[in-house]
Amino acid sequence: MKILTWISIVTIVIGMVASCNNNSKITTKTNPSNLMDYKKTYGSSHAILSEEELGHETTSGPLAYAPNIPALTNADTVEIRMDVQHKKITVADGVQFWAWAFGDSVPGPVIRVQVGQIVKFKMSNRSIETARLSPPMPHSIDFHGAMVNPQDKYQSVAPGQTISFEWTANYPGVFTYHCGTPIILEHMIYGMVGMLIVVPKDGFPGKVDKEFAIIQNEFYLKQKKDGSYTVDLDAALKKQPTYVTFNGKYKQYVKSPLMVNAGDRIRLYVCNVGPNNPSSFHVVGTLFDKVWLDGNPVNELRGMQTVLLGSSSSAILEFVIPEPGTYTFLDHELADMELGAVGLIIAK
Ligand code: CU
Ligand code: CU
Repeated sequence: MKILTWISIVTIVIGMVASCNNNSKITTKTNPSNLMDYKKTYGSSHAILSEEELGHETTSGPLAYAPNIPALTNADTVEIRMDVQHKKITVADGVQFWAWAFGDSVPGPVIRVQVGQIVKFKMSNRSIETARLSPPMPHSIDFHGAMVNPQDKYQSVAPGQTISFEWTANYPGVFTYHCGTPIILEHMIYGMVGMLIVVPKDGFPGKVDKEFAIIQNEFYLKQKKDGSYTVDLDAALKKQPTYVTFNGKYKQYVKSPLMVNAGDRIRLYVCNVGPNNPSSFHVVGTLFDKVWLDGNPVNELRGMQTVLLGSSSSAILEFVIPEPGTYTFLDHELADMELGAVGLIIAK
């Protein structure tokens, strides 16, 4: 009995020391062989359209603005609200336009849920509130991470209306969401794009020191006679963007780099929401130790230099920062880099 007691005390102490050492790390546990071995839920009850009083709150739930990643909600059901607003946004110095936005920004907020969670989603079309400045429009949402009837859940919502529907997260990964109202291309270049992260049931495998979300998108803009900017659908049809950005702002991480420490293991959640062009995502000075295509750890590649992401494609990239220095991350389709798809990671 005494020996057993001592063994358990020693085990507990070792466990406590180990967990203290790991406190700074973002840790998760998973048996990769079990990643796909769970029950999936297909479809859900009909979406509900309503005309409710629009309150002050425009977003709620496990949301954050990239490069930040929202905390997970530990519950079977997760409530998310993300209203559509028309608002003036800044893409580059002196370049503003009236965007159509999920939540408060372009791209919309990063959403994070977990496999098996039921997402109770609600979205009001608030474009009616700025009618004097930007014509109200029907809008919708298409979650690439959901398995539901698009004619029902992804239907267009009239200005002033609210849609509510549910879906269950079946697959882990990183997924695009966007407005699906015609002309879809137009709604996406007006800013209606975003990223959803679905975490495996037991978390993503392995430990990392820092995580960032990077959404790549294209802006197609033209200057009007009064000097202001508006969306250029003709340029979009020719796939000739004015800007290509990480998280919606021209070269923002050149001005304000992502800060890490030498030796850190970094995890990037990268989603190319397009809408037109591919991204060849690359980091100068390191290699990707692990690449999970579409963000699913089952789709693992090792030791990659550049990851090709088609429009609406994504990957989770894990890499080590080998020594102090400045590491450039970019779309290696170098015209896109010149148009803004470039940033810096500084390691002290
Ligand atoms: Cu829309
Ligand atoms: Cu789509």
